[in-house]
Amino acid sequence: MRGFSAMKKIEATIPKQDMLCIEAAAGPTGFTVFGASGDLAYRKLYPSLYELYRRDLMSDHFYILGCGRSELSDSSFRDSIEEKLRQEVDSPNDKKLRSFIQHFSYVSGSYEDDAFYRAICQRLQLLDEQFNVSGARVFYLSVPPFLYEPIADRIGQSGLQCPAASGRLQQVRLVVEKPFGKDLESAQHLDTTLHRHFDESQIYRIDHYLGKETVQNLLIFRFANSIFEPVWNRNYIEHVQITVSEEVGVGHRAGYYDTSGALRDMFQNHLLQMLSLVAMEPPVSFDADRIRDEKVKLLRSVRQLAPVDVDQYFVRGQYAPGTVDGGLAKGYLDEEGVPQGSVTETFVAGKLFVDNWRWNGVPFYLRTGKRLHRKLTEIVITFKTVPHSMFRAGGLDDLPANVLRFQIQPAEGMYMSLQAKRPGSKICMSSLEMVVDYQDVFGVKMPEAYQRLLLDCMLGDQTLFTRHDSILASWKILTPILESWGKHKTINTYPANGSGPSSQQTLWDGSDAHWSAL
Ligand code: BG6
Repeated sequence: MRGFSAMKKIEATIPKQDMLCIEAAAGPTGFTVFGASGDLAYRKLYPSLYELYRRDLMSDHFYILGCGRSELSDSSFRDSIEEKLRQEVDSPNDKKLRSFIQHFSYVSGSYEDDAFYRAICQRLQLLDEQFNVSGARVFYLSVPPFLYEPIADRIGQSGLQCPAASGRLQQVRLVVEKPFGKDLESAQHLDTTLHRHFDESQIYRIDHYLGKETVQNLLIFRFANSIFEPVWNRNYIEHVQITVSEEVGVGHRAGYYDTSGALRDMFQNHLLQMLSLVAMEPPVSFDADRIRDEKVKLLRSVRQLAPVDVDQYFVRGQYAPGTVDGGLAKGYLDEEGVPQGSVTETFVAGKLFVDNWRWNGVPFYLRTGKRLHRKLTEIVITFKTVPHSMFRAGGLDDLPANVLRFQIQPAEGMYMSLQAKRPGSKICMSSLEMVVDYQDVFGVKMPEAYQRLLLDCMLGDQTLFTRHDSILASWKILTPILESWGKHKTINTYPANGSGPSSQQTLWDGSDAHWSAL
């Protein structure tokens, strides 16, 4: 083969007049945040709500009632939020920030004490009056998962979820963070508890990956262009890869992470959700349930493994010490709070097949890991190579495949590799990469995923939230893997700051293709 050179990039631009945008502002809303002084609330929820407020996407009729175990007064809660927002938000607007903070108040108590919920109920009635909120009431569970059921039960028993309680028209919504159970059985149990008090239409299960712009763009890309759908199948696509690689280790979250591992923490939700958006059939309309119907159908088509086959299709690993920037990076077992001898996986790679008409025989390679060489989240579609090279006589027999990449992190964008003639010689080709860098093309900072999701929740749009049947379908896929791994008492390691365990290559069955570079 002759004449190929390193890939060159060509940029794309989007004419402004071609933009079609729909963005509605939220109506009056009363937020109740359980776990109000926790990390997630400070880092993600309040900054995202502030951004929505700053962009006039929130009504002035809103309040945020923080609930938690920490004993805080309204004013100390407001001070802590103001301080955090000044750190987290780019160039906060002083006037807006001060008026935003006035919408916060706080009630402290114990999550399993009925008196706490009576105090919340009284406070909500006062706040509804004070801020003239008669729209949505949102309960946000930003607490450790073992508290989901006790809190949901008490919200139900104390009538907080009952619109008539305040004598006004209220739409009540419950927001739940992942993990949604730790296996099929616990996920079913959680659903039963939630459904005892809330209808499915009131439950918003957050998977923050669905709020990322490029992930949402999969819907537009696939179903607002006519040229991709005809080739989006086993006849043209060789394989699909989805990678979520993180530089960070487990940090201070060992208590949670060690009982979870990468399969439950990332694969069950973020990776399988991205898979379902890439591979689902076209929904009939841009409607939450029509889209979620297709996603669940896809997950139900993923081939279930027999436990004895798991090692052939799934690889796991745990990070060991390594070097980062000339210094020593801890191994997982040395991290604060990790139990001695833990075999929890911090890396997982799997090869999945979707047994349906469209995808029969096309492998989907999914992987995720912590403490890897770089942060990268991408979906890579590799097309089949041309069936015959007419340039063979010139030595160009193995023409590279076209590759379409959706990069979600660190920068959001789309990349398409193509072969093209290089100027000059008669036959000389190059691989070019067409680049759409979101930030460059649209000239805006990518919004934090939580902004989209919180706004949609206030608007009552469940499109980007995971429905219960999709959760159960994903746990069914993972059941044999959990069973098989549960029997192993050892785990392979990989050095921190590398590209994961070398055994991940075995998933490619010796084919020439391989994981995209990390
Ligand atoms: C969370 C996981 O859901 O996603 C974390 O619990 C992980 O372990 C995080 O670090 C990654 O999110 P992002 O948006 O930084 O890729």
